[in-house]
Amino acid sequence: MRHSGKTSFWLLLLVAVISGGACFAIASLLLDVQQHKIEARTPIVRVAEVTDDTTDPAIWGQNWPLQYDDYLKTADMTQTTYGGSEAVPNVPTDEDPRDVVSKSKLETIPQLKRMWAGYAFAKDFREERGHAYMLTDQMYTERQKVGQPGTCINCHASTYVAMKELGDGDIMVGFEKLNMMPYMEAKEHLSHAVACIDCHDPDTMALRVTRPAFIEGIAAAKASEGVDDYDVNTQATRHEMRTYVCAQCHVEYYFKGEKKRLTYPWDKGLTIDDAYAYYEEAGFKDWTHAETGAPMLKAQHPEFELWSQGIHAKSGVTCADCHMPYKRVGGTKISDHHVRSPLLNVNRACGTCHKQDDAELIARAENIQTTHRHLVESALNALVDLIDDIKVAKEAGATDEQLAEALQWQRKASFYVDYVEAENSSGFHAGQYAARILGDSINYSRKGQNALRGLQLAAADDTAEPADEQAAEAQTGG
Ligand code: HEC
Ligand code: HEC
Ligand code: HEC
Ligand code: HEC
Ligand code: HEC
Repeated sequence: MRHSGKTSFWLLLLVAVISGGACFAIASLLLDVQQHKIEARTPIVRVAEVTDDTTDPAIWGQNWPLQYDDYLKTADMTQTTYGGSEAVPNVPTDEDPRDVVSKSKLETIPQLKRMWAGYAFAKDFREERGHAYMLTDQMYTERQKVGQPGTCINCHASTYVAMKELGDGDIMVGFEKLNMMPYMEAKEHLSHAVACIDCHDPDTMALRVTRPAFIEGIAAAKASEGVDDYDVNTQATRHEMRTYVCAQCHVEYYFKGEKKRLTYPWDKGLTIDDAYAYYEEAGFKDWTHAETGAPMLKAQHPEFELWSQGIHAKSGVTCADCHMPYKRVGGTKISDHHVRSPLLNVNRACGTCHKQDDAELIARAENIQTTHRHLVESALNALVDLIDDIKVAKEAGATDEQLAEALQWQRKASFYVDYVEAENSSGFHAGQYAARILGDSINYSRKGQNALRGLQLAAADDTAEPADEQAAEAQTGG
């Protein structure tokens, strides 16, 4: 027995050594293959030095000319049925030197002016366009006239190096300083639209997140799921990063407190109900509605949040899969850095997973979008009806206390319809979820109208202006 025990020991050791060696060999082979893959995509010799302080994308472009060429194409303007962007000529002035702008949404969707009465958005709100324009469009929007804080610039420029400089190496400190500057001062520190350095580590070219508000926001969202101390740059997978680099900016946000800290309302999670509950708890309002006095919330571009509730997110499809699909240039496979509407490029953007032809894929996307726009129209009309009814009650002498419930429904109905209207996929990112939100919004407007029923109103004050005049004023004055 002892003898055979010894033999099996040596046998085991031998097997262990051989299999260990085999594992090592396989591992190094895999590593080697991986290495070759990376080399195939990255030039082995860098012609220009790129460091953690190189903002100018033209310098990075010397090393990665294919990605840079596509990146420059974000200046193109091409329309799709519901998205893309249409070039509208603009007569340049000293105040606004742009010769081309995008289409005004206030003209195509007139209810928006009523929804935002009294807020800067009722003065100027346009279709978004390519990344190349993000800094200039922000500088020259009429919404700047109200004197915006530096916080605005977080998502409209390459901010990484500026934040490092302002914070003596600490981007969090730089972030806080930038937020507290007036916009006109903040912009002096910045000169490029989102650039390579905002999404890539210059040494490895790996994806990374450089936006403090997203680093904090995603940690809060993870904490709500029971994951504490989440650090996106060390814990996210490469796959998740293909969404997170975009989610740095394509999200709902607000400016928190006196320090105007850019904050994403994700403490309770990523759904619209979580965001609304967050704002309720914080007692936050963006503005007071000019026609009714309701304490209002403005929603903006929650592409990441809507996507997160849709079928593609559930199937592991990332922003980059559709908006930066792989393409082959000569012998090299690259990610298309011409970030744009995938419907201008369905063959590569969708065709890798869906076998239907291009026309059918576009038709399926537009089918979702047409239904969506129809529901948005109904929800906006319902909201305008509620605003009209509150005004009538006000003019008939209703007190603030009597109106309180209706005003609260106005706040909620407005946030819900605005959230999916401001989202830029026209429902595509999560069609059923968007439809549910719009159904809720219509219901909240209905509840607001119900709350006005049967109020015991004091006699109308006969010095009050007729309703028509007030409406006319709100349209022009805002
Ligand atoms: C399954 C594919 C797919 C995924 C994944 C996806 N999108 Fe989209 N996205 C679309 C389609 C389709 C549209 C509609 C484009 C249109 O109407 O022209 C769109 C529209 C947009 C638009 C408006 C573009 C325009 O031209 O008007 C933005 C911005 C956007 N998506 C950002 C994102 C972000 C950020 C993510 C990840 C959080 C994401 N998308 C994930 C397919 C996708
Ligand atoms: C959290 C990131 C973020 C912040 C902060 C931010 N933006 Fe934007 N902004 C975006 C994104 C993403 C788009 C493109 C999607 C869209 O237009 O809905 C955009 C689009 C725009 C546009 C073009 C479309 C339009 O609305 O007319 C303007 C102008 C603009 N922002 C101005 C501002 C101003 C002014 C502020 C500060 C009050 C600001 N932004 C703060 C992310 C941000
Ligand atoms: C630094 C913030 C920021 C980041 C990061 C960012 N975007 Fe944008 N994006 C914007 C802003 C701002 C605009 C609108 C610019 C304008 O209208 O002037 C925009 C516009 C767009 C558009 C509209 C293009 C068009 O032609 O109409 C798409 C699509 C888009 N982004 C998708 C993405 C995707 C996908 C990613 C990630 C790979 C991403 N964005 C990363 C801020 C950002
Ligand atoms: C908004 C974020 C964003 C910006 C800005 C950006 N990239 Fe990328 N880049 C990506 C994503 C996403 C990938 C895909 C990476 C992956 O899947 O690992 C990528 C991949 C790459 C790769 C790897 C090869 C490939 O094409 O897949 C290179 C090289 C690259 N980018 C260069 C650049 C350069 C140069 C610039 C500036 C001109 C730039 N990138 C700007 C998001 C960005
Ligand atoms: C990386 C793979 C991938 C890409 C890229 C992709 N899809 Fe999908 N798509 C899926 C998966 C997975 C589903 C879930 C249904 C299924 O399993 O077939 C889906 C579902 C859909 C649905 C049904 C959604 C619904 O709400 O009922 C439509 C429509 C669709 N995709 C259109 C598109 C379009 C248009 C594009 C390009 C803009 C696109 N997809 C890009 C994988 C992908």
